Amino acid sequence: MEIITPIQAMRAVRRAEPELSWGFVPTLGALHEGHLSLVRRARAENDRVVASIFVNPMQFERQSDLQAYPRTVERDADLLNAEGVDVVWTPDEAEMYPPGFQTVVDVQAVTRRLEGEHRPGHLQGVTTIVTKLFNVVRPTRAYFGQKDAQQAAAVRRLVLDLSMDIAIVVCPTVREADGLAMSSRNVLLTQEQRAAAPVLYRALSEAVRAWEAGEHQAEILRSWMKTRIESEPLAQIDYISVADPDTLEELHGPVDRALLSLAVYFGDVRLIDNMTVS
Ligand code: PAF
Repeated sequence: MEIITPIQAMRAVRRAEPELSWGFVPTLGALHEGHLSLVRRARAENDRVVASIFVNPMQFERQSDLQAYPRTVERDADLLNAEGVDVVWTPDEAEMYPPGFQTVVDVQAVTRRLEGEHRPGHLQGVTTIVTKLFNVVRPTRAYFGQKDAQQAAAVRRLVLDLSMDIAIVVCPTVREADGLAMSSRNVLLTQEQRAAAPVLYRALSEAVRAWEAGEHQAEILRSWMKTRIESEPLAQIDYISVADPDTLEELHGPVDRALLSLAVYFGDVRLIDNMTVS
């Protein structure tokens, strides 16, 4: 496995084997089983696999969140090596954001609600860096987790809108035994918060079961999840949503297809999770 930092070196490796299929897994590092499931899928579907590790400052709205973000590059590289990754790209911040940087990629309506509304600038930071990473790696397929459903929807939209020849593969959320969605932020939870955090999974699963049992009113599904989360004293709701899975527009009345999603604080740690019904 090669570990590469300069953009030109990454381009050269990619250019050397233009005829092969290249799978790409972009990450912020602090890898867990969720990331590794993307890597395994990429490994199974492509001749070559590149994973990037870059804690992208542009997608953190709070400096404290950027600083608190776990950094475990050596361990990450070992995990990627064990999964048979060919190239780990660890871009340099100064090279990714050269002096005078002023170009952004703004996917419009899809990024305005939910995470876009509650974390201003976050999704623009994601779509800008993903575009830059794609421009250098030029992957055949790129892999994203369903846990960040809005991010995946925005990346799908940008690939379509900017005519990029890249297949976006969205993989299922990987969960701990108690249902908590895997996230690099989970390590920041105290023991008590960690014990409380599976309430997200329970709220979503119960809403899905209610929907399956015939309760299709968006308002009722939302209030069902709200009551469940409010029963947990350590949980502070940021948002609860029943939205169209493609446009992320909030839905009202009976729904036959929806993304149920939540963002909930445990102290300073913000967790998100979602499930779809269709
Ligand atoms: O989901 C993530 O880890 C990040 O948002 C991504 C896609 C690597 C962009 O920095």
